[in-house]
Amino acid sequence: MSIASEHLNAALGRVAIAASSELAIETRDLKKEYVLKSETVRALRGVSVSVPVGDYVAIMGPSGSGKSTLLNLLGCLDQPTSGHLILGGEDVSKMSDDQLAEVRSKKIGFVFQSYNLIQQLTVVENIQVPLFYQGRLGPAETKHCKDLAAMVGLGDRLDHRPMQLSGGQQQRVAIARSLVNDPEFVLADEPTGNLDSRTTDEILALFDALNNSGRTIVLVTHEDEVAKRAKRIVRLKDGLLQSDVRNSEEGRLAAAEHQKQMIAAIKEE
Ligand SMILES: Nc1ncnc2c1ncn2[C@@H]1O[C@H](COP(=O)(O)OP(=O)(O)OP(=O)(O)O)[C@@H](O)[C@H]1O
Ligand SMILES: [Mg+2]
Repeated sequence: MSIASEHLNAALGRVAIAASSELAIETRDLKKEYVLKSETVRALRGVSVSVPVGDYVAIMGPSGSGKSTLLNLLGCLDQPTSGHLILGGEDVSKMSDDQLAEVRSKKIGFVFQSYNLIQQLTVVENIQVPLFYQGRLGPAETKHCKDLAAMVGLGDRLDHRPMQLSGGQQQRVAIARSLVNDPEFVLADEPTGNLDSRTTDEILALFDALNNSGRTIVLVTHEDEVAKRAKRIVRLKDGLLQSDVRNSEEGRLAAAEHQKQMIAAIKEE
């Protein structure tokens, strides 16, 4: 927010509203416990983090530190045990499953490590799946799905089934599917975890493009090379925020360049 607009908002007494409306995601002391027969797993023990609109965050941390748990909460795939989760200014922490499903379909695109495509369906049909569940399938929507397929570079693969595609191509279908409702933010859990470095680079280029078009991106990764391409790295440890660091713009460009050179070198060998 510029100083001038800050003054204006202060004069209007709307500082808090203005500030929060610029956040895509805000968590306050967010906790998630899984109650099992013999024990309670405290997967998230109080995480407070703010993600401004247009940010690009990589979540890192050891296995079991709570990364997927946090991403699933952000994606409204699960409900927190306590604390607050505010998405686009709306507190979703206490919403019912039905209400969460509605928020999910309106605001969120989710990409999984294992793509989660339906094997019997073609590329276009897989992209159409969320619309099918919302009862919104028609010629205009089909055209939109074909355009999305073309956008992720699969315009000539519309009738292929997942088995007939490479891992990177399958992940591109999953990304296209996540964009079908024009979400405000895209959440991805280890989206390049199953991909080689060249294909990883293609997928990261796609995330760069999405972020440049104004979408907020949060992804979970174990890979330094992937995290360096984000604008910011949030680390979790034992269900708590361990660090929160911004990547410099030069660092991001250098990471992209380094990846390109590495790929070129491997291809020459
Ligand atoms: N549905 C569940 N029921 C019970 N415990 C769970 C459940 N999901 C996750 N956990 C536990 O919560 C903790 C955090 O799990 P989470 O999947 O968020 O870790 P992670 O950081 O994503 O790990 P990884 O890098 O291995 O994917 C772990 O101890 C895990 O065993
Ligand atoms: Mg995980």
